[in-house]
Amino acid sequence: MSAITVRVPAKVNLQLAVGPLREDGYHDLVNVFHAVSLFDEVTAAEPADGDVTAAPLRVRVEGDHTGEVPVSDDNLAVRAAMALAGRAGRTYRADLLIRKSIPVAGGMAGGSADAAAALVACNELWGLGLPVEDLMEIAADIGSDVPFALLGGTAVGTGRGERLAPLETAGVFHWVFALADGGLSTPRVYGECDRLREEAGVAAPRPAVSETLLDALRRGDAKALGQALANDLQPAALALRPSLADTLAAGRERGALGALVSGSGPTCAFLAESAEHAHELAGLITDVDGCRAVVTAHGPVPGATVAGAGAG
Ligand code: C5P
Repeated sequence: MSAITVRVPAKVNLQLAVGPLREDGYHDLVNVFHAVSLFDEVTAAEPADGDVTAAPLRVRVEGDHTGEVPVSDDNLAVRAAMALAGRAGRTYRADLLIRKSIPVAGGMAGGSADAAAALVACNELWGLGLPVEDLMEIAADIGSDVPFALLGGTAVGTGRGERLAPLETAGVFHWVFALADGGLSTPRVYGECDRLREEAGVAAPRPAVSETLLDALRRGDAKALGQALANDLQPAALALRPSLADTLAAGRERGALGALVSGSGPTCAFLAESAEHAHELAGLITDVDGCRAVVTAHGPVPGATVAGAGAG
């Protein structure tokens, strides 16, 4: 095959419990990931021009608001493909095309999703046949959220978020996401979380998974899940972007079962009772100040999956 396209979902964190800062600069987490039906697509193709002097990995990005996505070796998809080629022990060539729908720097792990998709696409394109366990290991080196983008579904992550255990869930959950103008830097939000805790003289608690949340997921109980949603990074995201408090309040006032900042933000997530309720709620939130766009999605959905193979 000379081109492989992989579809990969965004995530929302249903619970993000942040522990103390570790010596390696990361925080110990309990991170309940949930993959939702907002997808990026990554196509890996054999370079058509046969120019052997060109960089072995090139990347293009298409979609709205993609100006901040690097098209250099800093791109997470390029880093993932390079790491995969390194594992295979030789140079491989590919042109990567990323079609983005997941908001950039939005707290929905879009960059990590693209890295996971690049691993699956290049593993196929180059005929490496590495098992998913090997891809998971490479993924964890690229970023804390990359392994989950391979796995999908709903899962709890521990360590820095990369050690995953799938969770049992029932039914489908319906979501509304309010996208904001501009992104928030993840390291900056973690740093602000540490600063706020220090200022308040609060020691970081040992992160623990919420049994109420696990029970709500097992029973497919959206009302109970709405009440159990929790994000320790939310105060920091609100401190850096105060307008998000109004967005969250607007969603709650207009009938969301639960509302929280997604990951490090600035995307806000609202849980709805049904697909109809999600559409209705989305219509009521569109005009809120600071909200660039509103989208609906459902979860859980599978992780990075081959969507097509062709002649490039
Ligand atoms: O792993 P990743 O590169 O996606 O993480 C981005 C940044 O988020 C890290 O450099 C760190 O500042 C912060 N982070 C953290 N603790 C985690 C995960 C991420 O402090 N468990």
